[in-house]
Amino acid sequence: MNVADSELVESILKREGFCATKNMHAADAIFVNTCAIREHAEEKVHSRLGTFYQVKKERPEVIIGVLGCMAQNLKDELLESKPYIDIILGPDSYRKLPGIFSRETTQNGNVVDTKLSRFEVYDDLFPSRKEGVNAWVSIMRGCDKFCTFCIVPFTRGRERSRSVESVRQEVSKAVANGFVEVTLLGQNVNSYRHDNRNFHYLLEELTTVSGLKRIRYTSPHPQDITEELLNVMAAHPVICNSIHLPLQAGSNRILKRMNRTYSKEHFIALAGKIRDYLPGVGISTDIIVGFPGETEADFQETLNVMNLVQFDSAFTFKYSPRPYTKAEQYSDQIPEDIKQERLQLVIDIQKRNTLLQNRKMIGNVELVLVEKESKKATDQWAGRTDSNKWVIFDKGNVRIKDIVPVKIMDARGVSLHGELLEKEEVCM
Ligand code: 5AD
Ligand code: SF4
Repeated sequence: MNVADSELVESILKREGFCATKNMHAADAIFVNTCAIREHAEEKVHSRLGTFYQVKKERPEVIIGVLGCMAQNLKDELLESKPYIDIILGPDSYRKLPGIFSRETTQNGNVVDTKLSRFEVYDDLFPSRKEGVNAWVSIMRGCDKFCTFCIVPFTRGRERSRSVESVRQEVSKAVANGFVEVTLLGQNVNSYRHDNRNFHYLLEELTTVSGLKRIRYTSPHPQDITEELLNVMAAHPVICNSIHLPLQAGSNRILKRMNRTYSKEHFIALAGKIRDYLPGVGISTDIIVGFPGETEADFQETLNVMNLVQFDSAFTFKYSPRPYTKAEQYSDQIPEDIKQERLQLVIDIQKRNTLLQNRKMIGNVELVLVEKESKKATDQWAGRTDSNKWVIFDKGNVRIKDIVPVKIMDARGVSLHGELLEKEEVCM
C-alpha cells in the first residue's frame, strides 16, 4: 500500500515539475512514506530521518517531509524531537503537496496536515509507475474492523472505496503502459463497496480488461470471503488461484480478545471451503505471537491450526503494542523473550509446512509468469505460479511478462525449481 501511495505522491510531484532522483544529495525535497503498523517499522523511519538530517545540515534549503501513517500517529512527537522536518502529511492529505511548494515551505515554518477524510480515495489521480510486470492498484482505503491490536483504523480512518469505473480505467491504463498483472489493494480489500457494487462484482468486471494476464488482491478479511467471491475466482482463470487469509491466532479466547469476529472452527472450515471451490489454491496467512494474555495453551492452538490448515506461506509477527489501540491497555503483556521463542517456533513450523506443500507440486506442470532474473543465476528466470509460488528455471527462449508452462522438478527453501516446457509438450 505504501508503494502505491508513493507512486501517487510521485505523480502529484511530477505535475509540479519535479522529477525523481536516487541521489538524496541532489534532491530539492526528500520524503519518507511511513508505516506505523509495528514499532519496528517506526524505528526504521527514525533512523532514516537521521540520515536526511545530515543532508539538511549541509543544505538547509532542502525540504524534508514525513508522509503516511506515522505522520498521522506521531506528528507532535516528530515536530518536537525533529524540528528540521518541514512537512508532515497524513495519508489523506497528499493533495496538499502542490500548495505547499508554491508557499515556499521553509520560509513559513512547518506544514502539518493529518486530517482524515471520509471520502478521499484519490480517484482522479493516476499513480506514476515505473515499468514493470505488476501494477499496484488501490481500490479502497481505511478500515472499520478495529482489531484490538491494530493501529490502521486510527491512522488510515474509515473505509471508503473508489468507483468501479475509475478502477477499471486505471487497470486499462496500466495494461496500455505494459503491465500484465495487477494487484488490487486495500487495508480490507474485500470490504470494497461502491454504489452497491461489492468486491466480487469489481473482480469480475476487471476480468474483461483485454491484455490483462493476471489479477491478484490483498489483504482480505476472513469474515468477508463470500461464496460469490469464490465462485467468481473459480470461473475466471485470469484471477489468480491464491488467497491471503490472515489467521492471527488459533485460540478462540485470543481471537475474541483480538476482535477478529471468527472462531478457530469457522476459520478452519473456511480454509476447507476455499480449497473445495479452488483446487490447488495457495493460501497464505498472518500470525501474531505474544498477544496480551496468550498462554502456552493458547499458543499451542495457533500451532495446531497452522498444522491443520497447512498454509503455503506465512508472515509472522511478535505482537507490538500500538498507541490508541485497546490491546495496548491490557495489563497482561507478554515478556519479550517469550514472544521471541514463540516467533521462532511459528517460523520453524511454517518453513516445514511450506516445504511439505511445495513438495506436493513436484511433477506438476504450472503456468508461470516470468517476472525477473533469478538472484542466484543470470541464466535463470524467477516467476510466480498462479498460486503465488516462486519458481526458478533456465531462461530458454522466453521473455519477462510471458506466461509459460514449467514442469516442477524440485522444492527447496521457499522456492520451486522447474524445467521450461515447449508449448507442444503441454497437455493441461
Ligand atoms: N503487532 C504485531 N503485528 C501486527 N499486525 C497488525 N498490527 C500488529 C501489531 N500491533 C500484523 C497483522 C496484520 C499484518 C498486516 O500486520 O498480522 O494482518
Ligand atoms: Fe488492522 Fe486488518 Fe484488523 Fe483492519 S482488519 S484493524 S487493517 S488487522
